[in-house]
Amino acid sequence: MKINNKLFISFSIMAVLMAVVGYLSYTQISKVSGSFDIVKSEATPSIIALGNIKSDFNQLHAAVLAFNLHVPDAASDPEIKAKALDHLQEVQVAKANLLSSYEQYRSLEKDKDAADRIGQGINGIIAHIDEMTTIGTEIMNGATTSQTTNGGHTHSHAATGSSDQTAQPPVLRLHNMILELDNAAMTFKDELDAKIAQEYISLEKTQADVLGDISSTINLNMILTIGAVAVVFVVGRFVSHSITKRVSQLKGEANQVAAGNLSAQISTPGSDEITDLAVNFEHMRNGLVSAQHELAKKNKDLQTLNADLDQANQDLKKLDKLKDQFIGIASHELRGPIHPILGYASMAKGGKIQPQVALDVIHQQALKLRQLASDILDVSRMDSGNLSYNMQKVKINELLLNALIAAGGTVNPENVSIVAKIDDRNKDLEVIADKDRIGQVFTNVIGNAVKFTRKGSITAATHVNSDSNTVEISISDTGGGIPEDILPNLFGKFVTKNVADTNKEGTGLGLYISKSIVNAHSGTIEAHNSNGGATFRIVLPINAADLENSGLLAEVVKRDQK
Ligand SMILES: Nc1ncnc2c1ncn2[C@@H]1O[C@H](COP(=O)(O)OP(=O)(O)OP(=O)(O)O)[C@@H](O)[C@H]1O
Ligand SMILES: [Mg+2]
Repeated sequence: MKINNKLFISFSIMAVLMAVVGYLSYTQISKVSGSFDIVKSEATPSIIALGNIKSDFNQLHAAVLAFNLHVPDAASDPEIKAKALDHLQEVQVAKANLLSSYEQYRSLEKDKDAADRIGQGINGIIAHIDEMTTIGTEIMNGATTSQTTNGGHTHSHAATGSSDQTAQPPVLRLHNMILELDNAAMTFKDELDAKIAQEYISLEKTQADVLGDISSTINLNMILTIGAVAVVFVVGRFVSHSITKRVSQLKGEANQVAAGNLSAQISTPGSDEITDLAVNFEHMRNGLVSAQHELAKKNKDLQTLNADLDQANQDLKKLDKLKDQFIGIASHELRGPIHPILGYASMAKGGKIQPQVALDVIHQQALKLRQLASDILDVSRMDSGNLSYNMQKVKINELLLNALIAAGGTVNPENVSIVAKIDDRNKDLEVIADKDRIGQVFTNVIGNAVKFTRKGSITAATHVNSDSNTVEISISDTGGGIPEDILPNLFGKFVTKNVADTNKEGTGLGLYISKSIVNAHSGTIEAHNSNGGATFRIVLPINAADLENSGLLAEVVKRDQK
């Protein structure tokens, strides 16, 4: 969830909570306030009204008693009569006040039956008082009986309703009625006190209810406030923890990456803005990792290139040294035949020797010089890779025999015999080769055999190996073998050594050139000593396919197509 939404929801929860707490507090306080209203507008006023009734009633009672006190002497004493009339006036005022207080009370009282009962009590007492004041007035006016006129009807009054009492003298009657009034007043006041006490109880109960409401409101408010604070704390803590936990985790992971630990992955849980940030960090880290890998690879390549360059430099130096060596030796060798040529020519010119003798030597040395120049040229081309081969189908045995025949002409047949061992089945065996160059190899190897063999035989044989599809040409002699000290480097440049006082004029390039040619044909050449002489083994591939690696096949195919 997005942080924005999280905050919005948590603040909404808090706001709703506050609203609920506020609403509940409002309703509680309204309830308390309502209870106060009841106390103020109902319970207390009705007690006051009842108190007023009681007070008014007491005044009425007192005024009636004062009036009655003056009645007996009023008829005879005008002054007393005036007082009696004043008290009568007070009676009327107190009566009106009582009725007014009662009306006020009635309007406040919910219990109408109770109000009616009090009203009946007041009406009864007022009727009794009215009768008393009527009788009192009659007495003041000199009456001796209790007959009164009211609304045009003549009837008799009696608080007790006894017909006997109407016959009583008015003063006595009044006296009795005062007693009756006292009793009725006592009863009424008791009733009124009971009602007031009841109202007080009700008021106390209402007050207790209000206090209870206030107490429960305080408690509820406290609980709601504590609850709301707890909920706000929990929600706030949860939201802040969920945000800060992720932020500090991301900070820790980013610190690791910043410290160079690029393998420390940045976790991307959730789906909020921090996750977006973490995803971007992770992309950056991956970018850094791949850049680092790329850099390491480039560095490695550079190191390899550097090593190659070093190697190439060393090779070049080596080659340069070899070239210097080669030029030095080659020029030395080239000078070799020139000395006898010049010497013999000079001697012939001076008449010291026969010209024919000089010419023979000069011819021989010139041939040698030509051979030497040709060899040096070949070596130079081979080393620089510029020697081209004219590949074609060659009858290998025919080539070998030609070389043997040519060598035959240079040996004394009495001392050395030349033998060719060729299987008739393979007589016309063809291989893909450069005829002249392979011929040159045979001439070199057979020439060495001739050169180093004074007595015995020189044997050449061919053997086809159908398993490896190769032909092996071996040339052995009985000339005493290759000197052991040069055997390990036999095919090197300028490696030459006399064998039993022969070969004084060798340059040591023959076998080097031979090996280069055989290698160019994807073949091998090796030498060893056996049976008192040397044996050379040359192996050449028979099929064109075996030449693939040498890169020469293309030339053959091209030529065949022509
Ligand atoms: N058949 C052999 N018997 C004994 N030693 C040999 C034989 N063939 C070669 N060698 C030794 O190997 C050396 C190198 O031979 P290689 O043909 O390369 O040079 P070379 O014959 O000395 O001179 P070049 O052939 O250049 O005129 C010879 O000088 C010789 O000492
Ligand atoms: Mg040689």
